[in-house]
Amino acid sequence: MSISERVKKLKPSATIATATKAKEMQAKGIDVINFGVGEPDFPTPEYIKSAAKKAIDENYTHYTATAGMLELRNAICEKFKKDNNLEYKPKNIMVSSGAKNCIMNILLAICNYKDEVLLPIPYWVSYLSQIIMADAIPKLVKPEKSNFKISAKNIEKNISPKVKAIIINSPNNPTGIVYSRKELEKIAKLAVRYDLIVISDEIYERLIYDKTEHISIASLPEMKNRTIVINGVSKAYAMTGWRLGYAAGPKEIINSALKIQGHSTSCANSITQRAVITALLEEDDSVEKMRREFEKRRNFLIEKLNSISNIKCAVPKGAFYAMPDISYYLKQNKKGVKTSVDLCDFLLENYHIALVAGSAFGIEGFVRFSYANSMKNIKEGVKRFEKGLKDLL
Ligand SMILES: Cc1ncc(COP(=O)(O)O)c(C=O)c1O
Repeated sequence: MSISERVKKLKPSATIATATKAKEMQAKGIDVINFGVGEPDFPTPEYIKSAAKKAIDENYTHYTATAGMLELRNAICEKFKKDNNLEYKPKNIMVSSGAKNCIMNILLAICNYKDEVLLPIPYWVSYLSQIIMADAIPKLVKPEKSNFKISAKNIEKNISPKVKAIIINSPNNPTGIVYSRKELEKIAKLAVRYDLIVISDEIYERLIYDKTEHISIASLPEMKNRTIVINGVSKAYAMTGWRLGYAAGPKEIINSALKIQGHSTSCANSITQRAVITALLEEDDSVEKMRREFEKRRNFLIEKLNSISNIKCAVPKGAFYAMPDISYYLKQNKKGVKTSVDLCDFLLENYHIALVAGSAFGIEGFVRFSYANSMKNIKEGVKRFEKGLKDLL
């Protein structure tokens, strides 16, 4: 039996590996604090759950249009108008089984064998694998040391005739950075100059702090026709298990991606689609409440991390992640801890906190904390982190 070359190129997801290890320890009765989580720790809001129950009772239990129910696509168009000042028609929308599924469909629809896709470091783990699965080549773009953002200069260095697209993720996983209008304008100019397709993953749009403004790059001049906006309900509405994401973009690309979807998943879950119509059109204050709670936790976590000697952590403006710089401890310890993976293993085994190594996101010298965890756990977890680092020296 032989396995495809494509699969051989894929690495198992480091975030899932951490979660599995942490769960195994928890199953043995060890009190592990898990900072590896990539999903809100809140339940889905009641008004959305009620809509799903009603959808079952009303027999919305069959295949839908491949692109998603028209009523849902209309609701998504309204959302884009209201939040992003973007005018789309239902024919510009594809509803899929999660934003992850949208991105895969889009990459399969636009990439030819050995096309290149610019991928800013640090990157969300699945982009890299999805580009490879689409038989394309990830071309990694280095960030600025000061702020994790990619400069126009670094993008330009990586441009070649083979580059087809660039992935932008703001607010960002794993760093929490949010690109400003000015920064996006610079990227947009390059996209126009070099005729790039932009895949703009905006799934953390609603989790944004300090009154920072979220700008969709698609709303900048000359960008709507070359941008695919990716969004979804997993993070904003705490609906990770319901599996629904959506893409908006030029009709030709959406139609091509729908050909892939039609022959792979057929459509997103019909009950979820009904519930998401309600989530978008009848939103109550639950999303804002979750956002405020995340902001409180972020403030606490960042202050504590920055109070640890030789730890620096940039203040994330969005999502629910923080990436402290731990490089001092990799150089300065007697325990043979040399890489971010070594440090995560050391902290998990001895101090029972699960973090994700920066190298999983293409960057060494950092670890990722997710603060999708209770205040109580965050307080205790940072104490353990500090103690672990001290004991390393
Ligand atoms: C940047 C980013 N995009 C997409 C996703 C996937 O979202 P979904 O649950 O809608 O597939 C995640 C989930 O962790 C993410 O962090």
